[in-house]
Amino acid sequence: MSFLQRIGGELTLEGVGLESIAERFGTPCYVYSRAAIEGAYREFDEGLAGIPHLVCYAVKANSNLAVLDTLRRLGAGFDIVSGGELARVLAAGGRADRVIFSGVGKSRGEMRAALEAGIRCFNVESEPELERLDAIAGALGKRAPVSLRINPDVDARTHPYISTGLAGNKFGIPHDRALAAYLKAASLPNLRVIGIGCHIGSQILDTAPLDEALDRVLELAQSLAAQGMKPEHLDLGGGFGIRYRDEVAPDIRGYCEALAKKLSSAGYQVMLEPGRAIVGPAGMLLTRVEYLKLDKAKRFAVVDASMSELMRPALYGSYHEIVEVSERGAGAPQRFDVVGPVCESTDVLGTDRALAIEPGSLLAILSAGAYGMAMASNYNTRVRPAEVLVDGARALEVRPRETIESLFSSEKRIDDAPAR
Ligand code: LLP
Repeated sequence: MSFLQRIGGELTLEGVGLESIAERFGTPCYVYSRAAIEGAYREFDEGLAGIPHLVCYAVKANSNLAVLDTLRRLGAGFDIVSGGELARVLAAGGRADRVIFSGVGKSRGEMRAALEAGIRCFNVESEPELERLDAIAGALGKRAPVSLRINPDVDARTHPYISTGLAGNKFGIPHDRALAAYLKAASLPNLRVIGIGCHIGSQILDTAPLDEALDRVLELAQSLAAQGMKPEHLDLGGGFGIRYRDEVAPDIRGYCEALAKKLSSAGYQVMLEPGRAIVGPAGMLLTRVEYLKLDKAKRFAVVDASMSELMRPALYGSYHEIVEVSERGAGAPQRFDVVGPVCESTDVLGTDRALAIEPGSLLAILSAGAYGMAMASNYNTRVRPAEVLVDGARALEVRPRETIESLFSSEKRIDDAPAR
């Protein structure tokens, strides 16, 4: 992350010292760079400049209102997967007509809320969903704009937990049933079919599967055109990978430029749904070393962050680089497993890391802007951390640390609980 620099031995974000952020806001604490988020968004937006397009940020990656606000100001659209995410986008000042709604299990209430808000498009993932949406739109006296999410049966060559474009996944409508599903959609009176959607997985490093999926989408678009149903837009999903360790991330600008060139005369609006590539590299989790536990076969650094704040290593075995914020003081590096206080053996944030640390040292767990805070939990009755947005010289507390009382303030002891 170019916004991350070591100045005089201390790690800084946009030139703001991370030690001072930890002192002001406490640890553990998520810190994001506004400039990094903006820069990453522009790679997509400028890369696609040659054709009509809308970059719909995947809200699930990081749904803090300040992040949404940052992107909204640049003209981003939003890809949502729940009524909760729609409410967040609207609360951040986002425009409903730039929102697309993905997901396999949209409830009636979510459909109603999205129709009433006037979202741009529903990415419908099954035939029963088409029928439900048609009925709800009819009851509201509206026509629902839809695109069908096609499962192209392409292997994204990523972690099996985050691969979504294979025939065996729950996502999307199988490619070979797509035409029939479109004909059905076109026959329903309260739907307006406007696009094709596709998303094959996440943390994709090799863009060849994306190209393959695009070819399948283009084939389908042609078949639809032949039936008089030419789509207005093609939504090619998200999934662009980032560097966590030594991976080579796809060149986003180059990829988008090539896409724009390929589709320059095709007459479609192109949408993308990137999440991780926009916010992942822009954020980190700051944590302090509580104890060094050296009496075991392994050396452990017990820190004040855990799988409750950053679940990815425990859930996927993901790697996040962990670096010392200050280079001063703690002698030669030694190897540690960096672990949290949670009572689970999988509460490991990094294994066998060379670190020069002592109790009190501040560490930065990098590339944690995506699926970090968004997946944080209160497991072990731990408060979720503060979130700070660095914006030039300013450090804005865009979400304060939760308080312990707030975690159970709505719970009741038996005699106080209403019986229903
Ligand atoms: N669009 C759809 C329909 C999606 O399901 C997803 C992610 C995205 C867009 C955004 O994908 P991205 O550009 O962020 O890769 N929790 C996992 C990632 C789960 C991704 C789920 N869907 C992780 O921490 O790696």
